[in-house]
Amino acid sequence: MAEIGKDLEVAKEALEKGGLVAIPTETVYGLAANAFDEESVLKIFEVKDRPSFDPLIVHVSSLAFAAKIVEEIPESAEKLAKAFWPGPLTLVLKKNESIPLSVTSGMDTVGVRVPNHPISLALIKSLDFPLAAPSANPFGYTSPTQAFHVNNQLGSKVNYILDGGNCKVGIESTIVSCVDNKVVVLRLGGLTVEEIENALGRPVDDIQTSSDKPTAPGMLSAHYNPGKKIIIGNIDHNLKKFPRARVGVLSFKRTFKNLNITKQFALSPKGDMQEAAKNLFGSLRKLDTRAVEFILTEEVPNDGLGRAINDRLLRASQKK
Ligand code: TXA
Ligand code: MG
Repeated sequence: MAEIGKDLEVAKEALEKGGLVAIPTETVYGLAANAFDEESVLKIFEVKDRPSFDPLIVHVSSLAFAAKIVEEIPESAEKLAKAFWPGPLTLVLKKNESIPLSVTSGMDTVGVRVPNHPISLALIKSLDFPLAAPSANPFGYTSPTQAFHVNNQLGSKVNYILDGGNCKVGIESTIVSCVDNKVVVLRLGGLTVEEIENALGRPVDDIQTSSDKPTAPGMLSAHYNPGKKIIIGNIDHNLKKFPRARVGVLSFKRTFKNLNITKQFALSPKGDMQEAAKNLFGSLRKLDTRAVEFILTEEVPNDGLGRAINDRLLRASQKK
């Protein structure tokens, strides 16, 4: 198990020595290393068992720092960065030579974001280099939203876990590509498409979040899988099909009679989408530890943040 704490000096020193530190962000915890150092970056892939074709997001402290690692910041990207950074938005931009190809899986673009978490922002500001950080989970598993989630799975493989409490947003950043004069959403996440379009003052050019699009190699369909088989559909109906003893339930708002209370979670009893997003991954992890074979769940209303929640549920339901 790794040391968990709030000591920025310990985190800084580990990163400067080329080590790995789990960092809190407003979305999910990241597994961070020096983005300028190839050797450190390769450790991330090793520890996560992540395929080399799945590029990492680079975390910086400001738009000004982002400008130092990319060829240019197009007008659309600048608008979005000014509206939403620090925040759950990753911009894909043309990279310059400062970023090694191991970070971007050989591509000439890089995903960049300024995370909105005081501890990690302070850490990044104290360093001379940006932090490459994917979510701090083994590849294909649900992202961690608390320090102990990281410790349970990767504790023996990281130098330090910086504890920033429970992640406020709870699902990963929205990824928006701003290259070749086009604005394309590559991953739905903590920032809604409506918010992006409002800030741009026009509709995005495309939304390409399907798994078979080569522009986002990490968007494999069988992702965010907590381990148990997940079945999406009408929960009342599915409860009749499976023996009660074998199922857990993850609902949007409701609780179900005749089902042990420890085997069911409502994402937000009052139907608040932000609360639902915040509770999503933690609830899946809890259900994964219960003595159940199947997790019965349902789609949430498919607008705003609900689209990103449904995206994660759908991916989690596809078998690894
Ligand atoms: O909220 C988040 O984004 C979290 C926190 C830690 O910042 N990070 C995160 O990283 O979710 P990860 O590795 O789990 O997902 C990164 C994804 C890749 O799988 C890929 O789909 C996309 O970002 N990505 C990164 N660089 C890209 C690029 N140059 N072009 C297209 N997609 C890229
Ligand atoms: Mg991930």
